[in-house]
Amino acid sequence: MPIQHNVDLQAFNTLALPGRAARYRTIGSTAELAAKSLTEQPRFILGGGSNLVLDGDFDGLVLHMAIPGKRLLGEDSEAWYVEAGAGENWHDFVLWTLDRGWPGLENLSLIPGRVGAAPIQNIGAYGLEVGERLHGLKAWDFEARRIREFTAGDCRFGYRDSLFKQEGWHLTGRMAICTVVFRLPKVWQANIRYADLTQELASQHIAHPAPRDVARAVIAVRQRKLPDPTQLPNSGSFFHNPVVDAVVADALAHKHPTLPRYPQADGRVKLAAGWLIEQAGWKGKDLGPVGMYEKQALVLVNRGGATGSDVKRTMAAVQADVQTRFGVTLTPEPIFL
Ligand code: EPU
Repeated sequence: MPIQHNVDLQAFNTLALPGRAARYRTIGSTAELAAKSLTEQPRFILGGGSNLVLDGDFDGLVLHMAIPGKRLLGEDSEAWYVEAGAGENWHDFVLWTLDRGWPGLENLSLIPGRVGAAPIQNIGAYGLEVGERLHGLKAWDFEARRIREFTAGDCRFGYRDSLFKQEGWHLTGRMAICTVVFRLPKVWQANIRYADLTQELASQHIAHPAPRDVARAVIAVRQRKLPDPTQLPNSGSFFHNPVVDAVVADALAHKHPTLPRYPQADGRVKLAAGWLIEQAGWKGKDLGPVGMYEKQALVLVNRGGATGSDVKRTMAAVQADVQTRFGVTLTPEPIFL
């Protein structure tokens, strides 16, 4: 694919924000990344555009990762090792693994986006993070001009965090993830401790769910709570759930007894940003064309015709109100381009 000029990116971001790329190229294979013409800066590596706020035109090069491929790389007595190209649709890949009898990713069903972006912010839902199933990955390093291999340990996964974010590579476009290998253990146990999931399965009278049942339950919960980006443009959770010191959480809970709190392994406490936003009066409230979703206050939605500036205005207003009311700082999940 040659480099294209002045390409409209609105269809390539799930918030459907307007903006054009000065230069744009679809990447269909790892080998294409070695081309000298792709070394220009600024450069942005685009996946499914489901974690992106496009703030107007981008005067640089956008590389749209479309590397295909799904295959069983190998297996041992304990696990299957399954490889996927960065350009594969995440949800289709999850369903494909389940079809083949390799469970382990079902809790991450229906997450928008492509495989290559999943490790960058360590996508997670319903009690599972992708880092827990990742075996390793290969990425093209634009500076070293070679493929680099990363093990799961190298990736330094945290809550919505990884080496790729810690090094700022997701902003500088230094590293393009090409293929990802997942380790799917052969001993499978349903991970259904998340309250919404437990309730959904109970309502369907499923006491001993199979992997497919868990996937179906996750899909049902997501469809009930989260807007379909093709119907109502959004980028999923817009803010991280803030993680605060235990003393801060205790003081807040004292004042607000219904505040949901999730103790973390390091002694700190994760708070529910959706709850804070709802209590601050933003659930179902709009500022211009951008608001917070009526069924899940953590999801910012484009009601139609919004620009990146509109998104930033609503974001700042929500942050200010939550800060004033609870003294808690909300940080956005998406990347701003
Ligand atoms: N809540 C409210 N009001 C709201 C929304 C939520 O009070 O409007 C309360 C809920 O009642 C619950 C708590 O907040 O007590 C947590 O809500 P929920 O279970 O819906 O999950 P979340 O913390 O809002 C996180 C992830 C989601 C993931 C779900 C399920 C983040 C930033 N978000 O949302 O991930 O699907 O848990 O595991 O961690 C995403 O990152 O894009 C995403 C959708």
